[in-house]
Amino acid sequence: MTKQFNLPRGTADIFPDDATRWQDIEAKARNLFALYGFREIRTPLFEETELFARSMGQTSDVVQKQMLNLAAQGEGGESSGFSLRPEGTASVVRAYVQNSLDKKESRSKFFYVGPMFRGERPQKGRLRQFHQIGAEVIGPGTTSPFLDAEMIELAVHLLTKSGVKALTVKINSLGTPEDKKNFSAVLRQALEPYTKELCADCQSRLSRNVFRVLDCKKKTCQAVVDRLPLKYDHLSPESRDYFDKVKEALRMREVAFVEEPRLVRGLDYYTHTVFEISSSSLGSQDALGAGGRYNNLVQELGGHEVDAVGFALGIERIILATEGETGKEPVGLDAFIVPLGEAAMKEAFGLLPTLRNAGIAVDISYRWDASLKSQMRQADKTGAKAVLILGENELAMKSVAVKDMASGDQEVIPFAQLVGYLTKK
Ligand code: HAM
Repeated sequence: MTKQFNLPRGTADIFPDDATRWQDIEAKARNLFALYGFREIRTPLFEETELFARSMGQTSDVVQKQMLNLAAQGEGGESSGFSLRPEGTASVVRAYVQNSLDKKESRSKFFYVGPMFRGERPQKGRLRQFHQIGAEVIGPGTTSPFLDAEMIELAVHLLTKSGVKALTVKINSLGTPEDKKNFSAVLRQALEPYTKELCADCQSRLSRNVFRVLDCKKKTCQAVVDRLPLKYDHLSPESRDYFDKVKEALRMREVAFVEEPRLVRGLDYYTHTVFEISSSSLGSQDALGAGGRYNNLVQELGGHEVDAVGFALGIERIILATEGETGKEPVGLDAFIVPLGEAAMKEAFGLLPTLRNAGIAVDISYRWDASLKSQMRQADKTGAKAVLILGENELAMKSVAVKDMASGDQEVIPFAQLVGYLTKK
């Protein structure tokens, strides 16, 4: 037997019946982004590996364990120095810096929709190729608690518009880079007495990147973290004031939220506001989306001092959280041509562009040598509203027999009147 191929683990085929739901979510997102003044950016699916390491952080799980590197061309299997993108933020910032957008516009509001790649162990809601809807606002001096709050509100709005009902917004503040340093010192001190109870990974995280301990999924580590008396002591009065204003702005827009001092996010670039939106209907992979402010990333990637904030939502997770919702059915075929004999096929082949150029959705059975019965069966399966039968008699009269599939009525219509007849229907 010839080998059959299966799709790679952690990926999915999206067939037309399901694609309508995807289109629906994407169309709603595009509409909403336009209302909030965002414009689309499309960046490559792969970039230099170092771009991701520099932005997300060398010690982040994504960079350490999940990067899908591209092999160099030809034999040898060495790495090309490029990787499939695990997220969109790094690429958007790279494009911003490369094109000196800070000189061209005072503020850039981008959105993107597309596949991302992480070499994770696949499970429900966790794929190796998944899709994000993301948004980033980048510009000098754009730090504002109102903007942070509006980004959170927009993420929630996108989710509710897509049909998500029960969701929880968790927020936290990491403060300035200085505050973050304080936070890691406070955290390290608080964790020290429990070192032995932590997993081996977390023991090394203590010195390398202590924030990662808060994200560890192991029960023993979570039990330690649960006992930590985390407050907002690490924040400077200015950062605390900023965070208070974000919360106030969220209340003004009636976005319900919970404060989660343990929320640090797995990526290094965040400063000040961070947030995560989850749904209890999702099981262990419960994050529908996440984001936050990242005021130093533009500079870290070679740009000027430029502030930024953004988020990304996982489309597969939105679909899981809204099971039962279906997309809008696309408009079906107006007509299906059944040619009987080669001469009829040739005539019909010429008719197709005339009909389509007039806006009539039409398809054909290419099996002109098959019986009327079997071609009619094929026509029926397509769900076309009308079947255009082109046999020897019709051909001689330069006409087609048009059968209305709902009523069963049949009429002979000359070629010259066909467009008018079908558009009136
Ligand atoms: P993230 O938390 O890594 O953030 O991913 C955002 C969302 O993408 C997650 O909440 C989840 O819904 C979805 N997601 C992530 N990994 C997977 C996976 N393996 N399978 C299925 N869905 C997944 C970021 O990517 C940041 N770039 C967000 C951001 C934008 N921050 C600032 N701007």
